[in-house]
Amino acid sequence: MSQSIAVIKGDGIGPEIMDATLRVLDALDCGLQYEFVDAGLGALEKHGTLIPKESLDAIEKHSIALKGPLTTPIGKGFSSINVQLRRHFDLYANVRPAISFPGTRSRYDDIDMITVRENTEGAYLADGQEYTDDGNTALSVIKVTRKGSERIVRYAFELARSQNRKKVTAVHKANIIKTSSGLFLDIAREIAEEYPEIEFQEMIVDNACMQLVMNPHQFDVVVTTNLFGDIISDLCAGLVGGLGLAPGANIGEKAAIFEAVHGSAPDITGKKIANPCALLLAAAQMLDHLGMPEKGTAIRQGIRTVLETRNDMVTPDMGGTGNTDSFAEALVEYVGR
Ligand SMILES: NC(=O)c1ccc[n+]([C@@H]2O[C@H](COP(=O)([O-])OP(=O)(O)OC[C@H]3O[C@@H](n4cnc5c(N)ncnc54)[C@H](O)[C@@H]3O)[C@@H](O)[C@H]2O)c1
Repeated sequence: MSQSIAVIKGDGIGPEIMDATLRVLDALDCGLQYEFVDAGLGALEKHGTLIPKESLDAIEKHSIALKGPLTTPIGKGFSSINVQLRRHFDLYANVRPAISFPGTRSRYDDIDMITVRENTEGAYLADGQEYTDDGNTALSVIKVTRKGSERIVRYAFELARSQNRKKVTAVHKANIIKTSSGLFLDIAREIAEEYPEIEFQEMIVDNACMQLVMNPHQFDVVVTTNLFGDIISDLCAGLVGGLGLAPGANIGEKAAIFEAVHGSAPDITGKKIANPCALLLAAAQMLDHLGMPEKGTAIRQGIRTVLETRNDMVTPDMGGTGNTDSFAEALVEYVGR
């Protein structure tokens, strides 16, 4: 089956890690066809806008995009392109796996968990942000809806079911934030009853942070509201050695965008030392999503093997003596076997 996707190479190290990623995807023979479209600083220079309409149309047409990091210009009134894309396509689920890999500077081995963060409402996107006339009080409105909570919790349980995962933990602060967090928790409890084969746990967010640091192996799938998810997913990335190996997916009913969590790394752009793994792991998530989980697994296994056995091919951030191209080459060799 042939599937077409929109590809945004992105800014800074984006083109370098995207080229590496596409080399590996091609070696896997996934039957993917690419339409390259612009976004970010490159698009601003070329088209006068950070996200041209043609790019949005292409994402809509293919319903899948693989995206390199984008630079949002500072101080010129530009809003985050990533937030714009989430809003435009109603990408309600932000899915961030945290998986241990060898050779990373991390506190624990064998972590394999996923944070499912609500992406479209809640405190992170608080509407009505304003100051009182004297400037001494700041106000904002936190909106959490039944629709938003139902679909994110259901997404988490369906993900757990499809990956044969055993437990879903709903993280909340319903003891204090009784309305917005309380509604989310009530709905999580309701939805959990539809999945009796999956253990359901609820945990207050401050305790969840402590438990994640002290005993992360107890977690499997974590589902939570937008702001808590923003914080917890980075905490989980830290548990497995930082952002270098952190992929993320933004998923909606009609479109899904897969990306590395890290940014465009201007300090190392052009040096050919950028680690392509986070984008490759996002591509693996994309292959899972497209019904090719064995190909996604091949990428994850390939990264594991190359990190364990080919220090000469691995990028310096992972302690290797190789570069972006050699990392890709080693992976191509592995997946092409
Ligand atoms: N998803 C996105 O598009 C996204 C996410 C975060 C930041 N950004 C943008 O990226 C730009 C730079 O942001 P920043 O410097 O705060 O964060 P960053 O993630 O780009 O870089 C932080 C540090 O991590 C290193 N790093 C990042 N990715 C790496 C990789 N693949 N291999 C090796 N080292 C890597 C960088 O060299 C830097 O030292 C900003 O314009 C920001 O808006 C975009």
